[in-house]
Amino acid sequence: MNHVAIIVVIALIAIAQVVAEEKVCEVCTKVIEDVRADMGPRSAWKNKSKVEEALGKYCKRKDLGVKEKKICYYLDPIKRDVAQPFSLGMPAEKVCKRLEKVNPEVCSVRFPMKTEKMDAQDYNKLRVKQLKQILADRGVECKGCAEKKDFVKRAMETEHMAEL
Ligand SMILES: *[C@@H]1O[C@H](CO)[C@@H](O)[C@H](O)[C@H]1NC(C)=O
Repeated sequence: MNHVAIIVVIALIAIAQVVAEEKVCEVCTKVIEDVRADMGPRSAWKNKSKVEEALGKYCKRKDLGVKEKKICYYLDPIKRDVAQPFSLGMPAEKVCKRLEKVNPEVCSVRFPMKTEKMDAQDYNKLRVKQLKQILADRGVECKGCAEKKDFVKRAMETEHMAEL
């Protein structure tokens, strides 16, 4: 290998690491950010009992995604460990990095990779039974859905939850 090739390889490895790094703890980070948004002003984060309460409330939400639910499942038994760094106002990602030391699973939860995006036309080609299966795989409900167009609409809305 000549020098240029070596440099290119090193650069590629570095880029790959940055990309991988960025996605670490992504679902946990989102959950912490969502809970903070629910709690309102930064001053409210300081009360640890309130943090635990807000996390509990967030995790009971009916509209939570599958991945968020998974994070809730891991965070619930370690609420105190969440409340501590949370109350200090640490960035959400850093909170999660701390929690990873308590339970390594916390950071292993990732959002599914984007697959080829399907549009309304693609969904329209499917049968209702298939659309229902897609929604079931995503772990989402289709409340009040009766006609095919309702299922297509729900499938479009929940595209981001598509599994690999
Ligand atoms: C923290 O929140 C709890 C529960 O809402 C409340 O009872 C308590 O008084 C609060 N503590 C402080 C220091 O504000």
